Amino acid sequence: MTVGVFDSGLGGLTVVSAMLRHLKGIDIYYIADTSNAPYGEKTKEQITDFSIAITEYLIHNYKIDALVVACNTATSAAIAELREKYPHLIVVGTEPGLKPAISHSKTKKVGILATPATLNGDKYKSLVNELSNQYSVEVFEQACDGLVQQIEKGETDTPKTISMLQHWLAPMKEANVDTIVLGCTHYPLVSKTIEKVMSHPVTLVQTADAISMRLLCLLEEKGHINTGEDHLYIASTGPIQSDMVEHILDKKMDIKRISL
Ligand code: DGL
Repeated sequence: MTVGVFDSGLGGLTVVSAMLRHLKGIDIYYIADTSNAPYGEKTKEQITDFSIAITEYLIHNYKIDALVVACNTATSAAIAELREKYPHLIVVGTEPGLKPAISHSKTKKVGILATPATLNGDKYKSLVNELSNQYSVEVFEQACDGLVQQIEKGETDTPKTISMLQHWLAPMKEANVDTIVLGCTHYPLVSKTIEKVMSHPVTLVQTADAISMRLLCLLEEKGHINTGEDHLYIASTGPIQSDMVEHILDKKMDIKRISL
């Protein structure tokens, strides 16, 4: 099976790395749309246009069987349009793991870090409404403007990134939040920094494993036999830090430059 995966940049590789652990015998074509990053500060219409252009590219060049939107922001903005436009494609999105975070939290105080576009999207708002009617929980939301750019530069632990996180996490620290949702696929790349800044033990929730398991299940329904070698190909629409790619995947990769 051939699977297309995309994100605005490096973040979706945190999903690819989980996919490589769970799925066997697949070809993965990953597109980092760095020329349009960050998505989180763009409009829904812009993000939908980028998502459709990438999907067209993946379908025409690689005849993909499945598409993984490895980006919370693009999922929030465009997943409905993608499903409607490509009904024959398996489409798996990425959503903030708020429900597992609430179940896990003992203090019933849960933090969520995401991009402004994800937190302002209808999808997220209706999820929070639904869950806060069901559970008694206090949710601390924080839009992290500029964090994606820091990560793209490879600045996962520099004084500037630490001070941004100190500012955003202060209310969560004070309120004794014990579980934080990483609502952007870039943010697992600053997990260690978040843990350091929080200073008390905190569980960070990400959904890369759940996405991979969901994809596996949908591929198996279409006859996928989960054995054999995986092949990964990476392309980017703009500059990308190859040492970060190597750090995330734990191996050197050739990165092709494409225009959509
Ligand atoms: N990795 C994307 C996400 O999950 C980042 C979006 C951005 O480029 O701002 O939301």
